[in-house]
Amino acid sequence: MLSAQPAFDLVIDTGSPGKAISRDLVGIFFEDLNYAADGGLYAELIQNRSFEYGPLDHTDWNSFTSWDLVARSGKGSLVLDGAFPLHPNNPHYAVLEVTQPGEIAMVNAGFDGIPVQAGEKYDLTVFTRYLYTGGRWDAKKSSDTLPLIARLETREGVVLAEISFTVTTPDWTRFSASFAPSASCVDARLVLIARDRGGFAVDEVSLFPKNTFKGRANGLRADLAQTIADLKPRFMRFPGGCLVHGNGLPNFYRWKDTIGPVEQRRHQSNLWGYHQSVGLGYYEFFQFCEDLGALPLPVVPAAVSCQNSGHTGGTGQQCLPLADLPAYIQDLCDLIEWANGPASSPWGAKRAAAGHPAPFGLKLLGVGNEDHITPGFRERFRIIHDALREKHPEITLIGTAGPAPDGEDFEQGWKFANELKVAMVDEHYYKSPQWFWDNLARYDAYDRTKSKVYLGEYAAHDNKRRTTLRAALAEAAYLTSLERNGDIVTFASYAPLLAKRGHTQWNPNLIYFTNTGVFPTISYQVQRLFALNAGDHVLATSLKSRPESTAPADLAVSSVRDSHTGDLILKVVSAASEPLLVHLVFKGATILATTGSLTVLTATDPSVSSDFDHPDAVLPAQSTIPVSAAFDLRVPPHSLTILRLANP
Ligand code: AHR
Repeated sequence: MLSAQPAFDLVIDTGSPGKAISRDLVGIFFEDLNYAADGGLYAELIQNRSFEYGPLDHTDWNSFTSWDLVARSGKGSLVLDGAFPLHPNNPHYAVLEVTQPGEIAMVNAGFDGIPVQAGEKYDLTVFTRYLYTGGRWDAKKSSDTLPLIARLETREGVVLAEISFTVTTPDWTRFSASFAPSASCVDARLVLIARDRGGFAVDEVSLFPKNTFKGRANGLRADLAQTIADLKPRFMRFPGGCLVHGNGLPNFYRWKDTIGPVEQRRHQSNLWGYHQSVGLGYYEFFQFCEDLGALPLPVVPAAVSCQNSGHTGGTGQQCLPLADLPAYIQDLCDLIEWANGPASSPWGAKRAAAGHPAPFGLKLLGVGNEDHITPGFRERFRIIHDALREKHPEITLIGTAGPAPDGEDFEQGWKFANELKVAMVDEHYYKSPQWFWDNLARYDAYDRTKSKVYLGEYAAHDNKRRTTLRAALAEAAYLTSLERNGDIVTFASYAPLLAKRGHTQWNPNLIYFTNTGVFPTISYQVQRLFALNAGDHVLATSLKSRPESTAPADLAVSSVRDSHTGDLILKVVSAASEPLLVHLVFKGATILATTGSLTVLTATDPSVSSDFDHPDAVLPAQSTIPVSAAFDLRVPPHSLTILRLANP
């Protein structure tokens, strides 16, 4: 029941400009976890396109995972070879042989099927060459060509589209063509068919929808990328997470392995239990940042591996030998040149050759990801930090303070960062919704003379690691505290970003997806609302419970001003189960606006979740309300309320 009397007084000081805060507070954290890249955001539809899968990725995988040989008529075989690879970084390829003419097919099932739509186009590329024509040991070649047919088929074998190639050379050659499927199918197959006697080498079999995000070649899944773009992130951290420092030294994420032609990139296993084709690599990440209007924030290993390497659960940190450190630091300097150097510089030329002559404008670099603060880590971090600071003072370096909001690594990480005067420190925490409510004052006490904060990973985990309205509102409440402390907290990113149904190693995530659908969570709505309603100055705001009021005090508020538009934006988060009346006073300047735009995210049950069956369970509702210098604002139970006054 809503009492007729306001329970709170909320006074916003509109008379002074307020405190300058980061405009870039709300961004995203992309990690290839939960099939976020291959089978996810990366629009490639062929799984294991390079025959590089293996048991190190996943115990029961091999070079032909997701591929099948089907001898529809005739006789033949499909085997693996590596004698004459397309590129040393891509050492395996398939050999398709026909010993008795007929239809010998190699069939790819995609990532749980290949979704295709009638009316759309799909670009196929295949690298192939013939090994021999006729019989393998025939004294004389039967012909100089071999036909190869590519089809899109339904699971049952109904042909949706067909393309024929003639392979005319024993040298690796790239064939490409477009399919226009005659019908839609969520579970199609790509089928490569050999008919005549002979043998082919086949590698890098790729199928992309023409309709990628912004039409980029080697691009991103349009619907998923658009859902991310709708968040209006101010920055993007990539490529992880634990993926960055990897499962042991050989598994470091090395940026140089992820650029250049895709068939020349070095694949590697993903410590989350699958494979990285790195088709979505550094070039694509930077390109995506540009398309999003987001600052690129790459994170590189601090020359130590993940402490959980080798399934150790905390003691497996491996350190790069110190003798290798100069070369490693050079790699990082090369990254900066690749991103920012002129097209005439050696690494800038590679960026230009890939299609981006203009610099990408890298300003930020994370070094390390929640590493154990060991002597080995300290020694390497210090050397990397000092070298980069000297060579590239224009780059803001971000250090690391362990995987939790407190404890040994956190304390030691901060102490060490203060010693080195690291520009910014990356904090991570996954906690209960109540923890977030209990810690709204966390950054109020941070020393403003020390390093800035990047809250690189956070999420409220409700019971059984669910994302619920309760969790989303706890994140919203926390975001008000980050805005209040936006002079020291520069960036914050919810983690993780993406998860595919059936391939999820971590819960909860911001956006779930299937091959054909995208399912943003309630937390996604919160992130989006904060990004859309960001400001660059925070106004002094006081919230007081009236003495006579018995309403619970679980409210969090912030007021910001966006100096670009002049808009004033008030956010109120309530975890109360009753509606509340808040008496709002704009103090200090005349409020000329007579109406305000009100956005409310709420539901009656705080444990509600948006899921695959109820994607729209809780969506923001927008309305216009009358406003004046002082008026009563109704705050619904379990809600985030945003009041925006256009240039008041
Ligand atoms: O976000 C998932 C994982 O959580 C990240 O990889 C890691 O940094 C953290 O432990």
